[in-house]
Amino acid sequence: MTDATQNADGGLAFFEDLHPPEGDFKADVLAGLSKPQKTLDAKYFYDAAGSEIFDAITEAPEYYLTRTELALLDEIAPKLRARAGVGAVVLEPGAGSSVKVRKLIDALEAPAAYVGMDISGEHVKSACAAIAADYPGLTVGAVCHDFTQEIDLSALPLPSGKRVVFFPGSTIGNFELSGAQALLEVLRDYLRPGDGLLIGVDLRKDGATLEAAYDDAGGVTAEFNYNLVRRINTELGGTIDPEALLYRAHWNPYRSRVEMYLQAKRDMDFTVADQDFVLREHETIHTENSHKFTISTFQDLALRAGLKAVDVWTDATEAFSIHWLEVLGEP
Ligand code: AVI
Repeated sequence: MTDATQNADGGLAFFEDLHPPEGDFKADVLAGLSKPQKTLDAKYFYDAAGSEIFDAITEAPEYYLTRTELALLDEIAPKLRARAGVGAVVLEPGAGSSVKVRKLIDALEAPAAYVGMDISGEHVKSACAAIAADYPGLTVGAVCHDFTQEIDLSALPLPSGKRVVFFPGSTIGNFELSGAQALLEVLRDYLRPGDGLLIGVDLRKDGATLEAAYDDAGGVTAEFNYNLVRRINTELGGTIDPEALLYRAHWNPYRSRVEMYLQAKRDMDFTVADQDFVLREHETIHTENSHKFTISTFQDLALRAGLKAVDVWTDATEAFSIHWLEVLGEP
């Protein structure tokens, strides 16, 4: 139900809870650990501790993505202003703490509204309330929603301006290619002709740079993985010894992705939720993929999702790209 009372929630014009389906942590972990290649679903990295560790990853010297994208957003601000025009409505699926979007809002000419959407209702409410406090002329709404799911935007009280859907961070790279296309199709449905999807995409580069970005010398990314093991131990009564696991990031050029694993240093027996598992020495648990694109492999993927490439910008070293996509018209 929409709470449309102005200033009802810390300056928010509305808060809508779409009751996203809750993931079943236990069932997913047990199913993943029962596969021939043991896997864990990367979406479970982000409990409160994991989200803090992820913030620390974005500051690791080797993790170039966040700072490169932020600098690029500054650099292309005039182009974004021209593309979005006056009175744009900025929508951010998977908003998190809504930090990068401030660069976009600052770039635009008299934006009409900002709507942050996130799977955590409390998180998105407070992040959007902070935006509302800092941008007094802006109508700010918050939606509790899982960005992988379809959304009926006609149910939200949105102003009529051009929509700019913001999806930064190269989160698209964490999906299998079929899932990435499906996600782009969901995001396409936010758009009417002339609206734009502004999406950050990390670019393919040499394996050494990529492996360092995903296995920083300070061990922050390793800690991100161990945190998931600790979460399994705490929440599911697991007995996995994190000390017996080695964290590894491997660049797979054939699948154009960095693959992340926890590898057993020795034979291990453990239980999770009273189920027994064995991990042989050197056997791995696959925890995450981060796909890397060229401009054209990403544009081809977008096209398959019904989105046409209108603009693309990269930093001077071509490490990272930001794309402006629009809905493909009828032939
Ligand atoms: C959230 N996502 C874009 C990150 C990435 O770069 O693939 C997740 C991450 N995992 C380890 N480091 C960063």
